[in-house]
Amino acid sequence: MTSPISLTRYLVEQQRIQSHIPADLRLLLEVVARACKSISRAVNKGALGDVLGTAQSENVQGEIQKKLDIIANEVLIEANEWGGHLAAMASEEMEGIYVVPNRYPQGEYLLLFDPLDGSSNVDVNVSIGTIFSVLKKPDASAGVSESDFLQPGNRQVAAGYCVYGPQTTLVLTVGDGVSMFTLDREQGSFVLTQERVKIPADTKEFAINMSNMRHWADPVKRYVDECLAGSTGVRGKDFNMRWVASMVADVHRILTRGGIFLYPWDKREPGKPGKLRLMYEANPMSWLIEQAGGAATDGRQRILDIEPTQLHQRVSVVLGSRNEVERVTGYHAGL
Ligand code: AHG
Ligand code: MN
Ligand code: MN
Repeated sequence: MTSPISLTRYLVEQQRIQSHIPADLRLLLEVVARACKSISRAVNKGALGDVLGTAQSENVQGEIQKKLDIIANEVLIEANEWGGHLAAMASEEMEGIYVVPNRYPQGEYLLLFDPLDGSSNVDVNVSIGTIFSVLKKPDASAGVSESDFLQPGNRQVAAGYCVYGPQTTLVLTVGDGVSMFTLDREQGSFVLTQERVKIPADTKEFAINMSNMRHWADPVKRYVDECLAGSTGVRGKDFNMRWVASMVADVHRILTRGGIFLYPWDKREPGKPGKLRLMYEANPMSWLIEQAGGAATDGRQRILDIEPTQLHQRVSVVLGSRNEVERVTGYHAGL
């Protein structure tokens, strides 16, 4: 019987045998995983740990923060600031970047995160998660500024998420496919449970918040109408629908059995490109999806090629099974 492969061993092998990641990046990913374990513990405690409910504050997007949004943000910062591998961090829950304090050595990496994705599900005991993206400082000179973070997703050196559901699962890419690690609570370590994750190119399952239907643009409406028409419509097959309202959980389902996820631009706030954030939601998820053979666009172009202009900028998101994403993207192009 072969012994289970821990995340630690997997990362050491990625560094030593595959030469995919340098030692500093290995350390960074270990630290992020440790922080996720800690967030998982807090999530599991629920009402017993006084972690449910809202805090008395708003984040930069004007959203009321949950207690767990703040706890998860603090856990990630405290875990990562002293290791010497990072220059700075950015988070959904912080307006500006967090530069590693002078008392610690500065590294060359930049870490971005959505500390707690799916906040509306915290109090109702539905899957939530942490999403992260790692970039390299564009030059090795001293100092770091917000503009160093404004790199397209195709420059990510690592990306992943941890979903806190019935199981706690860490999903990771360093550009060599997608691997999944399940938290073994007795051992306290993440164990490799799936490698070379592949999303089927076709699917019969779509995910979108249907309550916004009347606000959608025509190409999105057309796509969903055709899915709803089922076997009697142009698609000639019946579709199923799922919407968890935690992007991590929806993406996890798609990585596991295929599907398409849409959070498109809509007329509720026409000046905004969408609800989801490019740098710490769409980019890491898009890279994971592409690494698993899927596709991710904003309806028109590849999300990973978007040149960011702002840390907290939003983007329209269409991702998942390749043929469906290409269909939606084609509808936007008038095909
Ligand atoms: P967050 O909790 O980090 O703000 O993100 C929530 C996001 C995403 O996870 C989910 O897909 C979407 O918001 C759900 O939005 P609706 O409530 O509009 O369906
Ligand atoms: Mn989120
Ligand atoms: Mn969040």
